[in-house]
Amino acid sequence: MRVVIHGLTKEFVTGKGKVRALAGVDLEVRDQEFFGIIGPTGCGKTTLLNIVAGMDKPTRGGVEFVGEKRTQALVSMVFQDAALMPWRTVGRNVPLGPEFRKESVPAYKRMTQFFLEMVRMLDFSGAHPHELSGGMKQKVAIARALANDPEVILMDEPFANLDAQTRLLLREELLRIWEKHRKTIILVTHNLEEAVMLCDRIAVMSAAPGVVKAVIPVDVRRPRTFKSMSDPDFIRCLEKIWDLLRHEVDRAMTQNHPSGVEQAAPERRKTFFDW
Ligand SMILES: Nc1ncnc2c1ncn2[C@@H]1O[C@H](COP(=O)(O)OP(=O)(O)O)[C@@H](O)[C@H]1O
Ligand SMILES: [Mg+2]
Repeated sequence: MRVVIHGLTKEFVTGKGKVRALAGVDLEVRDQEFFGIIGPTGCGKTTLLNIVAGMDKPTRGGVEFVGEKRTQALVSMVFQDAALMPWRTVGRNVPLGPEFRKESVPAYKRMTQFFLEMVRMLDFSGAHPHELSGGMKQKVAIARALANDPEVILMDEPFANLDAQTRLLLREELLRIWEKHRKTIILVTHNLEEAVMLCDRIAVMSAAPGVVKAVIPVDVRRPRTFKSMSDPDFIRCLEKIWDLLRHEVDRAMTQNHPSGVEQAAPERRKTFFDW
């Protein structure tokens, strides 16, 4: 399923006036593509995913899903915190989508088992979320997203709250799963290595209000592993993205902290010339 985003603009009306989160985002994500979105905090990444998920409405522009619909669900979302239901066991958290759609119990039990096995969490089927580590919870959230059998999986900084080593492990797990079980994935992250490691292409967003500054293809051979990070193509891509991004991160920092503008000024000039 292709995802075509055109002229997406979002303004929030707040007590203090209008907040412009997105200012005309145009993007096209290909069928079965692993697509990354990277940008400074506050540039509208979550807003964009929420709109693609249908959880929020754009002020202008829209999102189109193009392709033959093969499954029941259009999108599944994986959040930064796994958002599991604390009163349900792992095995009962995974089949939420099929259960909601009232699919047959034996069928979704099989699905649950299949996807828990895929994320190597079958042994924890009877555990409750509070008994799991952060990384394990995210694996359950990924199994839940897959068990919903969607056309597109949206991931909003899914590994941001994990320690560095767990993050590395889960990246590899996600790659392994995606290689086997191709889906269109849109991954929001502010981790550059993560984006380059996982994605086919990466959209770099500007500081708020967000627009797409460039879409960079990641020409790093697959299958990718930890070792890919020392591949010269990997490093070249990382540098290219950082060149585009650093100015935006710097702009976002001074926007978000108006009182810090004066202190940040010398650093900002240096960064600007570097760029
Ligand atoms: N429900 C909301 N009401 C008002 N402003 C919002 C709301 N959601 C997001 N924003 C604002 O929109 C901008 C983009 O936010 P967000 O999409 O969360 O950015 P990101 O995910 O890139 O960090 C921010 O300035 C944020 O404060
Ligand atoms: Mg966000």
